[in-house]
Amino acid sequence: MTRGLFITLEGPEGAGKTTILSRLAKRFQKEGIKVLHTREPGGIEIAEQIRKVILDKNNTAMDSRTEALLYAAARRQHLVEKVQPALEEGYVVLCDRFVDSSLAYQGYARKLGIDEVYSINQFAIDDMMPNLTLYFDIDPKVGLERISRSDEREVNRLDLEELQFHEAVREGYQILLTRFPERMRKINAEQSLDDVFEKAYKEVDRLLQSQKS
Ligand code: TMP
Repeated sequence: MTRGLFITLEGPEGAGKTTILSRLAKRFQKEGIKVLHTREPGGIEIAEQIRKVILDKNNTAMDSRTEALLYAAARRQHLVEKVQPALEEGYVVLCDRFVDSSLAYQGYARKLGIDEVYSINQFAIDDMMPNLTLYFDIDPKVGLERISRSDEREVNRLDLEELQFHEAVREGYQILLTRFPERMRKINAEQSLDDVFEKAYKEVDRLLQSQKS
């Protein structure tokens, strides 16, 4: 039986979700909550190896379906090896990206179809959807500009796509918000980092409190 909570953070490039995620993890850990902080694609050795293949700037020949299948494969391994065991032990799992990334990037922006990509992912996740998904919304122009100013973040194969692709990713996420209104919460990521953090914290805290009552 699953006792923990599975929370995912989503958004286009440069939305700040990775920074927000580590701040959330620190804050909840301070409050005495068992938190597992992880990411996709990656989070465990096999999935990190798959991540390298997917994001390698030299792999320009990669077919869109191959890309979607590799993300789903990395997701499966990460889920069974890391996420599910933690949930069974009662952890709050905070995961940087999950299936919605595949639906927005491969399903919508790569035009494979949201339903088609969902169905290959269903094989990987077996109905294991998050309890809550925070979607950090940002104009891709602003997001890409932020990335280009950051020395910490390495530029990957998907970052090199045209602006039009990143705009389509954002549109894809808007569709997902209407499709999964119960699970997804939209947060304006163009505000200051502190404001974005406070909004994200409130959403997660509300869910944690609702589990107690
Ligand atoms: P990151 O930069 O947030 O670590 O994510 C790596 C890249 O992979 C990012 O460009 C988004 C992309 N991605 C997909 O296209 N599909 C997916 O399913 C996932 C998890 C990430």
